[in-house]
Amino acid sequence: MTTGQSLIIDTDPGQDDAVAILLALASPEIHLLGITAVAGNVPLALTEVNVRKVCDLAGRTDIPVFAGLDRPLVRPLITAEHVHGKTGLDGPDLPDPQTPLQDQHAVDFMIETLRREPAGSVTIAPVGPLSNVAMAMQMAPDIIPRIKQIVLMGGAYFEVGNITPAAEFNIHVDPHAAAVVFASGVPITMMPLDVTHKALTSTDRVAALRNIGNRTGAAIADMLEFFERFDEAKYGSDGAPLHDPCTIAWLIDPKMFVGRHCNVEIETSSELTMGMTVIDWWRVTNRPENALVMGDLDADRFFALITERLARLP
Ligand code: RIB
Ligand code: CA
Repeated sequence: MTTGQSLIIDTDPGQDDAVAILLALASPEIHLLGITAVAGNVPLALTEVNVRKVCDLAGRTDIPVFAGLDRPLVRPLITAEHVHGKTGLDGPDLPDPQTPLQDQHAVDFMIETLRREPAGSVTIAPVGPLSNVAMAMQMAPDIIPRIKQIVLMGGAYFEVGNITPAAEFNIHVDPHAAAVVFASGVPITMMPLDVTHKALTSTDRVAALRNIGNRTGAAIADMLEFFERFDEAKYGSDGAPLHDPCTIAWLIDPKMFVGRHCNVEIETSSELTMGMTVIDWWRVTNRPENALVMGDLDADRFFALITERLARLP
């Protein structure tokens, strides 16, 4: 008898994606139905391999892993090797994956799963571009009311953009997909840069992960020491924002986050602001509040959860 929230993680690993996947795998509050890979930080051919390497690291070669879209719905793919390295998972030297890649397409897996599982029981946690999720909604609109909620990492408002002056990477890569998801009516919890930039991987926090003493802690510490160099140089901070695990941490312990329901619209016309998330934080419009937007978190509690849970893995 499995317990925990039924979850599909949609991801483009990415060192921070890897921590999100491992946190989910280590947490009894989560029943991971499958992981779907999408093109983003690096091309799909690498993100699907990286998902499987992370499952191997957790000793979970049983997890169903699926490959999805290799490009955005409309725009050309933009990748982020400058942040994540050429493999997308630079840092540790992980062996070729043993976890198999399923033959089924990720979008078909999402549709089939949502049609099979009880309506309103499945959460989707997208932590990369929203291409797979939007495609599933467009191919099978009947699944939309069956999705319990979407808890996504993406967007920005007060923190402005990280890949352009106006837009955050996940939304900028596939703004048309994001527009579909935010207009879908599915309950959305959004982790924008405004909150993830308060979850910094300080030297002490990475040391605590390495000091767990297991292979997972060592590999994640190596990943984060690679991953953080870019943001430290860019922002002059000690450490880098640990974006994607915010979604999983919220599912486990929502009280560590603070936010408000807002209207969120996506820029899909102007090249200057393409992929900008226009968040009506001060409610100056009457536009519908389509997302719970997080603005703050208890970072010590966040890293304590991650450290405690990763210690449960090999
Ligand atoms: O902008 C941060 C997001 O883009 C994170 O999900 C990171 O993994 C990259 O995909
Ligand atoms: Ca990601």
